[in-house]
Amino acid sequence: MLHIAIMGFGTVGAGVAEVVRMNAASIAEKTGEEVNVKYILDVRDFPDSPYADKMIKDFAILESDPEVEVVVESIGGAKVALEFTRRALQAGKHVVTSNKELVATHGKELLSIAKARGVNYLFEASVGGGIPVLRPLFEDLSANQIEEIVGILNGTTNYILTRMVKGGVSFADALKEAQSKGYAEADPTADVEGIDAGRKICILSNLAWGKEVLPQSISMEGISAIHLQDVDIAAKAGYRIKLLGRALRLPDGRQTAYVAPHLVPENCPIAVVDDVFNGIIIRGNAVGDVMFYGRGAGDLPTASAVMSDVLDAAAHRQNRRDIGWNESAEITPAGEIPMKWYLRGSFSSEDAKTLCGEVEVLSSGAVITGALTEAQTKDAAEKLGAAAMLRVL
Ligand code: HSE
Repeated sequence: MLHIAIMGFGTVGAGVAEVVRMNAASIAEKTGEEVNVKYILDVRDFPDSPYADKMIKDFAILESDPEVEVVVESIGGAKVALEFTRRALQAGKHVVTSNKELVATHGKELLSIAKARGVNYLFEASVGGGIPVLRPLFEDLSANQIEEIVGILNGTTNYILTRMVKGGVSFADALKEAQSKGYAEADPTADVEGIDAGRKICILSNLAWGKEVLPQSISMEGISAIHLQDVDIAAKAGYRIKLLGRALRLPDGRQTAYVAPHLVPENCPIAVVDDVFNGIIIRGNAVGDVMFYGRGAGDLPTASAVMSDVLDAAAHRQNRRDIGWNESAEITPAGEIPMKWYLRGSFSSEDAKTLCGEVEVLSSGAVITGALTEAQTKDAAEKLGAAAMLRVL
């Protein structure tokens, strides 16, 4: 019997309890071990919950119970969750989490405690919701040198963009829908402003290249400044606007990561990833492009990834998974790396060509430049009086 404890009975914690209940027999059959949720830690009362008899408010109870082998941290944030994760690892328990903020900002420390104590600290659910992407990255793709990771990493903003574009729903209503479906963060600013996707691209980058990129060291832009006019122009020219997280390691060794809205050509598989779905492309120097697709948020999808880590931690009791990142990465600001840009204004294509070199004309007053740095593009945009400037994948 594998005894686990769940810390935090919100969307994810409740989803984990439900997956254990729903799939108890098949999990036991596949792993040869039954899973028992022994405790659920939460400050709130749930008198009507079927799990009422498992509810505790004192962390010390699960910390000091030698029967509890794996602790699921689904509290969120980096305060209480950090303290309890440190203590659970120190107590010799495996910890699995969906908490991208904690992994992105304190992962280095927590992984080193896990290593010292000989336990696992696993966080598949912290990126891509239910999509298995981290384990393939550090396991199945380990023979590759990773060149680029790019993807839709936030379900809430992708849901909002899809509802606005395809359903004609206002931003505020689409956000409310995403909240009611349990997709959004407690403070949805983290979704809307690209911070959540920023934490996720940092975690992917850390695992891909073994060096720590902290969210505060990268540029993060969300979807609040996107105009429907640009969505329309892009669509007519064969592009979709998507919020992307992107991490690159260039042949010259420079490394960058950032989050920003992009025009994505319709023939790129990411362009058709809609609603709460995430789509992540990883480019390895041997395999080429591999794409991961699935539900990026929600209770059961996220719980699916959490439980895969619970079972993986149990399978690696003796031979812990040695994943981690050490020294800080040297990050080149994304704006210094030449990329294509979309500009829209009331300028002529000739003026755009004069300032930007060769351009692709999307419509009157809307062009895509060749590869330019952000400073070069801003300079051209200013001279052209452009009203919109977006990256192009
Ligand atoms: N708020 C996040 C999202 C939850 O919308 O993607 C999953 O990490």
